Amino acid sequence: MTRRAVMRGGLAAALATMSSFGLAGCDSSSTGGNSTDNGGENPNPGPGPDPEPPASVKLGFESLPTSMTDGCVVPPGYIAHVLAPWGTPINDNALPWDKNGNNSSNDLLNSMGMHHDGMHFFPLEGSSTEGLLAVNHEYIDEKALHPNGPTLVNGKRPAEEVRKEINAHGVAIIHIRRTNGRWDIVQNSRYNRRFTSATAMKLAGPVGGTDWVKTPFSPNGTQVRGTNNNCGNGTTPWGTYITAEENWAACFVNTGIRPPHQQRVGVSAGPVGRYQWETAAKDPSEVLGEFARFNVTETGASATEDWRNEVNGFGYLVEIDPYDPSSIATKRTSMGRFAHEGCAYSKPEAGKPLAFYSGDDSRFEYVYRFVSEANWDPKDAQRTDRLAVGAKYLDKGTLYVARFNEDGSGEWLALTGSTKGKDGGTLADKFKTLEEILINTRGAADFVGATPMDRPEWTATHPSNGDIYLTLTNNTSRNASTGTNPANPRLNNVNGHIIRWHDEPGSNKFKWDIFVFGSDSGADADTNRSGLTDLNQLASPDGLGFDSRGILWIQTDNGIDGGRKNNVARATNDQMLAVIPGALADSSGTGPAINASNQSDLRRFFVGPNEAEITGFSMTPDHTSLFLNIQHPVNWPAYDTHDATVVSMNTVRPRSSTVVIQRADGKPIAV
Ligand code: FEO
Ligand code: CA
Ligand code: CA
Ligand code: CA
Repeated sequence: MTRRAVMRGGLAAALATMSSFGLAGCDSSSTGGNSTDNGGENPNPGPGPDPEPPASVKLGFESLPTSMTDGCVVPPGYIAHVLAPWGTPINDNALPWDKNGNNSSNDLLNSMGMHHDGMHFFPLEGSSTEGLLAVNHEYIDEKALHPNGPTLVNGKRPAEEVRKEINAHGVAIIHIRRTNGRWDIVQNSRYNRRFTSATAMKLAGPVGGTDWVKTPFSPNGTQVRGTNNNCGNGTTPWGTYITAEENWAACFVNTGIRPPHQQRVGVSAGPVGRYQWETAAKDPSEVLGEFARFNVTETGASATEDWRNEVNGFGYLVEIDPYDPSSIATKRTSMGRFAHEGCAYSKPEAGKPLAFYSGDDSRFEYVYRFVSEANWDPKDAQRTDRLAVGAKYLDKGTLYVARFNEDGSGEWLALTGSTKGKDGGTLADKFKTLEEILINTRGAADFVGATPMDRPEWTATHPSNGDIYLTLTNNTSRNASTGTNPANPRLNNVNGHIIRWHDEPGSNKFKWDIFVFGSDSGADADTNRSGLTDLNQLASPDGLGFDSRGILWIQTDNGIDGGRKNNVARATNDQMLAVIPGALADSSGTGPAINASNQSDLRRFFVGPNEAEITGFSMTPDHTSLFLNIQHPVNWPAYDTHDATVVSMNTVRPRSSTVVIQRADGKPIAV
């Protein structure tokens, strides 16, 4: 051991002793973040495999009725608090949120961003009353962000507005603590930090350092500025956070000839990118092409004289070490480049590779699996150099894409050079190198004949049996000409469904079935194949998470902000439901698992405010606090209250926010 390591070990031991005095002491005395500062030692309790859920776990609440108000609804006996809405300062460098929209770009850099999405609670020293919350900020509501919406002056976005928008995206890490029953941010904690769409990050794995990602900012292709449109999330067995880059492509514009991979991911063909950030280029304050880089048109003589490669630095799973405030976020390019929607890992087994699953959320896109080259060593869960552990498991391995067969079997198709194409030839005939395959992940998956899905969203892993669940949110473009397939069997799939599979150990084969079909309760039998009722009708399943007791939490994003266009949207706001699934192997094979015989097993636990989607799921280790996110509400949260259930009676500037749900009696949730 180095002297430094010995010293750090000593400090950690001393702090471990201190923390045995109890965290309540920190609650009452400290407003700073240093009470649990452990000098970089691993405060993660070492997740490894989750404990076996008790066989006796049962849902202990009644299903909620539908709701359409500007407030949240929880079951009787539960409370819900607003925590860390958009614009809440995380340190003293930001002014408080202004209800007229006048905060600056610097305020945003030091506050919670907009449109909270994927999220995870990382306990400090295993605590259920203090920890770090990592929160994705997926995108922005420009109308709410600025006093009077976005502006354009002589065809250009003002630089300050663009910086404010860029800083409203990304990820927040906040140190939070429960005091007298209510969670709040520990202001100025050393852990509090923001990653934005401008924060410098590393590009690791096969694409990093190649010609694909060389730019004027990073001539050797090892870095990129920012993470963008961070939607779902994942975690790792070694205590890091994974943030998924989803709808980044249209933020970039190419007014010249878009190469096939840019067309395939949806880089804007012009005249402008989604937010027109590139129009602020040449502002006198611009630093190193901070705005120009969103225009990826080839204009210079080489890749380091224009921004043609900037977009190749986006579309990845990004690993963040929440426990080390000095760490650099790292893009794991080996895990593929597409519209990533979350990332669940397989149940870890010592001496076996780890698998990570990620959906690509667009119509007719695919679901992917990355398998590490390294075999899992449980000691790595305790290591303190967490991003080095990440490099060990996430930079080398094989990316696969799923093909679902009619007989309930499936196959993972390797995206490597030797894999045969569905129409002949091999991937190596089409793409010369592994990095070229990864940049063109969608094109490679097309070539090998993957199954086109109904918008793959989140994945979740059953804590004891290892089954993987995937939300397929909807697909209104599945029609007679596109056809159906066994895994996506409904035409005009406005309601979506949830599929699950179980990988055969040590092989590329799996078994699958359909868990539940979304539907309104009044639909005919061909649509309402799961027999849903008024008490659990759902559409557009999106966020998904298991807690360690084996309860599956399903969240919906039913497009209500775009108008109530389906019968479920006309009946209720977006919601979160709970169910305790049996194993795939227990099913008869005729499916779906949720059907007319077991309706009371699937219960509505939460309904959100008007127009908001429900997303992001995490719980404290003792299951007494549940965190979820309200994204893009229209008139919520009410001013001058922390109670998330209060219905706004006046018009408010809406704020996406985390909501913390607890039982009034402090007992574990849902049972
Ligand atoms: Fe950002 Fe796929 O929802
Ligand atoms: Ca989503
Ligand atoms: Ca949405
Ligand atoms: Ca969605």
